[in-house]
Amino acid sequence: MKTEQTETVACLRCINCGAKPQSAGQDFRCVDCGDLFEFVFPGWARGWKYDHASLKSLWLNRRTSVGQSLIGKASASKAHCLDQSGVWRFRELLPHIPAEHAITMGEGNTPLYHLQGCARKVGVENLYAKHQGMNPTSSFKDTGMTFAASSAHQGGFRWVACASTGNTSASMAAYAARGNMHSLVLIPEGKISWGKLSQSLDYGALTCQLRTDFDGCVRILNELVRQKPVYLLNSVNPYRIEGQKTVAIELLEQLGWEAPDHIIVPGGNLGNSSAIGKALVEMLELKLISRLPKLSIIQAEGANPFYRCVREFGGTKVEPMTADTLATAIRIGNPASWKKALRVLRATGGEVEQVSEVEIAEAKAEIGADGIGCEPASAVTLAGLKKLRASGFVKAGEMVVLILTGHLLKDPDFTIKFHRGDLFAGTPDERHAVQAKSLQRAPIVLDADLGAVIAALDGAPREIRSTSPHIRV
Ligand code: F0G
Repeated sequence: MKTEQTETVACLRCINCGAKPQSAGQDFRCVDCGDLFEFVFPGWARGWKYDHASLKSLWLNRRTSVGQSLIGKASASKAHCLDQSGVWRFRELLPHIPAEHAITMGEGNTPLYHLQGCARKVGVENLYAKHQGMNPTSSFKDTGMTFAASSAHQGGFRWVACASTGNTSASMAAYAARGNMHSLVLIPEGKISWGKLSQSLDYGALTCQLRTDFDGCVRILNELVRQKPVYLLNSVNPYRIEGQKTVAIELLEQLGWEAPDHIIVPGGNLGNSSAIGKALVEMLELKLISRLPKLSIIQAEGANPFYRCVREFGGTKVEPMTADTLATAIRIGNPASWKKALRVLRATGGEVEQVSEVEIAEAKAEIGADGIGCEPASAVTLAGLKKLRASGFVKAGEMVVLILTGHLLKDPDFTIKFHRGDLFAGTPDERHAVQAKSLQRAPIVLDADLGAVIAALDGAPREIRSTSPHIRV
């Protein structure tokens, strides 16, 4: 790491009672009140050497820096890797972790796409997607994981562990392997996609499929870390949140530090929304941006404890529920970070929404039809935007950024079933699924015969024929 790295003075603080311990216990819970910790940066207020302009140019210089020959220069090459990472590049806004412990795979640096077809449908011209599925393990988890896995390495841990709906585990397994640590994965049996399960197997994790749901896995893991020297890598770990903040920092850099009007994220365990919101508030405090975007959080109707917390209980409590949704990544009934998420929802003036299974499937196909694609949980953002647009919360002339959290290939089963028309067969949603029919593109099995292919081309759906100027059929 280059010498301009400040030893950012960060300290832990309990979000409930304000206790400031020197270090956190294995479960990352406050010993006084049991709530979560967050990092705070008192040094920023006390004569910090950076101003917003010098930070911006420092980060830009790192991104455009040119690497040296790797031969015989391991430390220089490590420094360059950190400068190129979309997380470590922004290290002035993170707690300090020495370079020798940093485990990086060049995470972050994800593209921002204009969603032209979706924009037309929703009636918001300036509609963009920040695609976190374009990370090394194909989900947004990598930005938090590079940082938290590095903190495990710094702590000398041999084992790291998480409970997961599939993406955290994939990410953790990869970063543990890169850092020569062992990883233990607890996942709900039969409730995660094969793509995600296959990742943690291939990256060498000890993978336990428990006969319970995600919330049940979390309960077991919390007990385990009190008895065994394993390092907890769920998003209750505040290092995860710090690394994940960089998604918002990088987004604002991509937008020339002009805040969009809205950022929309899916809500599961609520670490991601907490992290993005924390970054926004901190960037405003540091004058990197001059106004806050509204951060809105969308949940599936069948996994909506946070939606109900805000809409039914005025933000006073979360009532744990048995969650159920085909968007398995967010099949979570008792979100750990709800208080943090509530705080940033209020600070930014965002909204909560819930969307149905059919609305999720439809939105996912629409994002796919823009040539982008995402996994089901990510598509709640577009489905939620439609509702926020209908209610007038989002206006036609405003700029909206959807955070797409996972890659299309994470859950091909969902996609294939949708396009074949099987996704809702025999379920109470079957009747409503008719509305998504025009988006379905089932594969056609034909003999190897030119005439048959031409007939298929001639019979292609009318909307394809009429909207493409290039195909005259
Ligand atoms: N989108 C995807 C693709 C996810 O994998 C998750 C969470 C979320 C959204 C919700 O983010 O929990 O920070 O609110 N996945 C976790 C996991 C729980 O174990 O992979 P959140």
